[in-house]
Amino acid sequence: MVLLGIESSCDECAVAVVSDGKDILSNIVVSQIKHHCNYAGVVPELASRLHSEWIGEVCKEAIEVSGCSLAAIDGVAVSNRPGLVGSLLVGVAFAKAFAWSRNRPLIAVDHILGHIYAVQMECQVAYPHLTLLASGGHTLIAQVNRYDDVDILGSTIDDACGEAFDKVAKHYQLGYPGGPAIDRLAGCGNENAYHFPQPRLKERPGRRPLDVSYSGLKTAAISQADKFGNPAFASPTVADLAASFQKAAVEMLLDRVQRAVASTGLTRLVIGGGVAANSYLRKRLQQLSGLDVYLPSLNLCVDNAAMIAGVGYHYYNDEIFSDLDISARPVSSLFGS
Ligand code: KG4
Ligand code: ZN
Repeated sequence: MVLLGIESSCDECAVAVVSDGKDILSNIVVSQIKHHCNYAGVVPELASRLHSEWIGEVCKEAIEVSGCSLAAIDGVAVSNRPGLVGSLLVGVAFAKAFAWSRNRPLIAVDHILGHIYAVQMECQVAYPHLTLLASGGHTLIAQVNRYDDVDILGSTIDDACGEAFDKVAKHYQLGYPGGPAIDRLAGCGNENAYHFPQPRLKERPGRRPLDVSYSGLKTAAISQADKFGNPAFASPTVADLAASFQKAAVEMLLDRVQRAVASTGLTRLVIGGGVAANSYLRKRLQQLSGLDVYLPSLNLCVDNAAMIAGVGYHYYNDEIFSDLDISARPVSSLFGS
């Protein structure tokens, strides 16, 4: 069974063709990075305009590369939430037109479920398992019971982990997007040059035990770095700062993973989202004992449409289809309706 996947939630215009939820026949991702880097962040209006200019060509290329005929495509899966609504709408409108004109089913997929599923395309991980999802918009630790059944154990109460990487990199003009820039620079720095504290979250009604907060760490790295300098380092460099920030950001995630293992007894962990491409996070996760960690390839960590078609396959098998009047939504279904 062959599905077309469409992903346009942020600044990647992506279309893929996937067979049986795991065999990736094509996975085209056209990044808008160079159009947004002057602003050191995604400009929503520009993003949606570029998606509408590009999506037809990207789709054409994905189908050509897959070697499939149009007639061989059994349905179309599209991420319709969460993300920038203007950007999502382009993919959703395109998917609707495809489904209607080809008389094929339309399947709306939550982008977050796509990130969680991505690694299943490379190795089958039995349910239930834990997931750590860290991206530019979300930070989530959860128990996954099925491709569409996720119990959130903790999430960020303010900034997402990737957002903190992006803001720190923007402040120190390290490059855009900030996560890969810090990852690279940190390789030449000393992670002990600064001791950034781990925030302690107070218990509050509605707060989950494994919630995280990145705004304090972001502020500490941007405007209070002097307060956290290690006296043993006379003149720390910006690479030292990047390495120390990265260590603190990653250790917050490792702490939540270990607590999730302790509270659920689950020892299978899959990771996903752009921050899952971070080399230091990947290294530290592999060093944790008593845990089977499943790391997707880097191209499946960041936004892509193969993961959307992958989830779509399971909806198709379960005969869960969407109407042509679906809309784009800014918030994930995991956080409300
Ligand atoms: O999943 P993604 O491509 O898009 C969203 O759904 O947000 O994630 C993008 C985020 C950005 O914040 C980017 O800086 C971060 O992932 N990122 C990284 C790395 N590669 C991408 N963060 C840390 N280290 C990386 N190597
Ligand atoms: Zn994403």
